[in-house]
Amino acid sequence: MEKHRVLTGITTTGTPHLGNYVGAIRPSVRASRDKDIESFFFLADYHAIIKATDPEKIRQSSKEIATTWLALGLDTDNSVFYRQSDIPEILELTWILTCNTAKGLMNRAHAYKASVQANQEANEDPDFGVTMGLFSYPVLMAADILMFRAHDIPVGRDQIQHVEMARDIAQRFNHHFGEVFTLPSAVVDDNVAILQGLDGRKMSKSYNNTIPLFETEKKLRKSLNKIKTNLLEPGDPKDVDDSTVFQIWEAFATPAQVDDMREKFAAGIGWGDAKKELFELINAELAPARERYNQLMAEPEFVEDELRKGGERARATASELLDKVRHAIGISPLT
Ligand code: TRP
Repeated sequence: MEKHRVLTGITTTGTPHLGNYVGAIRPSVRASRDKDIESFFFLADYHAIIKATDPEKIRQSSKEIATTWLALGLDTDNSVFYRQSDIPEILELTWILTCNTAKGLMNRAHAYKASVQANQEANEDPDFGVTMGLFSYPVLMAADILMFRAHDIPVGRDQIQHVEMARDIAQRFNHHFGEVFTLPSAVVDDNVAILQGLDGRKMSKSYNNTIPLFETEKKLRKSLNKIKTNLLEPGDPKDVDDSTVFQIWEAFATPAQVDDMREKFAAGIGWGDAKKELFELINAELAPARERYNQLMAEPEFVEDELRKGGERARATASELLDKVRHAIGISPLT
């Protein structure tokens, strides 16, 4: 029987932070080890160039993200780990899908609509700064997904619409040309925590409130000390529900450790002590991977090699599907 296929992409802008780790990387690394599923993870570098224009930043981010996943133990035998740009078939499929995608569908995409709205609010031309890349972003994402006939697409809430568009595009194609594509579904795991950042809002690069994943021990301690707390003194009972320290604790602790910390809050643990315990907990989980990360960053040959091998495997699958697609639309050898 064909295995269940899970696929997700990571846009290569920015440095991985604790929120990425808890929300996406840790669950994916676990999934990569599951023998019952076939998983595909890739660096979405062609998505990165939609917004980011600094080549050095894209290069650095690709390196950091790939190294992070491998340092954390991604199983690259049991999963396919690759770079989107190493699979030219994805771009070929993107064009074919572009020709089968209603412009009206793309008009409804959130990322594009948000740019238009911001322009309108600023009294600018609605298309100011809007590239065709931004406009067609969901078609590229549909090609990523449909190329590997993935069933489940684990994503954050902001990406659900894009996966639904991929499904619409697949349906329309299948309707015209026969059953070529598998229909994908977005999977949002409600058990995975959306980590709060330093200021209590969702941890996100755009809020500038992140805690980088693999900074030095000293810096990690310093970052954790910056988490916003209230003014309650040691000895005052504290509420776990409005505490970012507690929320992050929950994302790393065992159930017994969660209970233990809840009691300490009630008993009035000081913020300094709570943060110290939080540091110990997080550091214990991350320290071995951090060491591996630093080694791999210094000798990127291993990471590059893994990406190349993954790319070859991904291409084998991709070219097979692309042949079917081309045949279906009437582009094929004469004899
Ligand atoms: N656009 C996604 C994001 O910004 C990344 C992405 C690109 C992706 N292609 C994908 C996610 C395919 C899932 C499947 O988060």
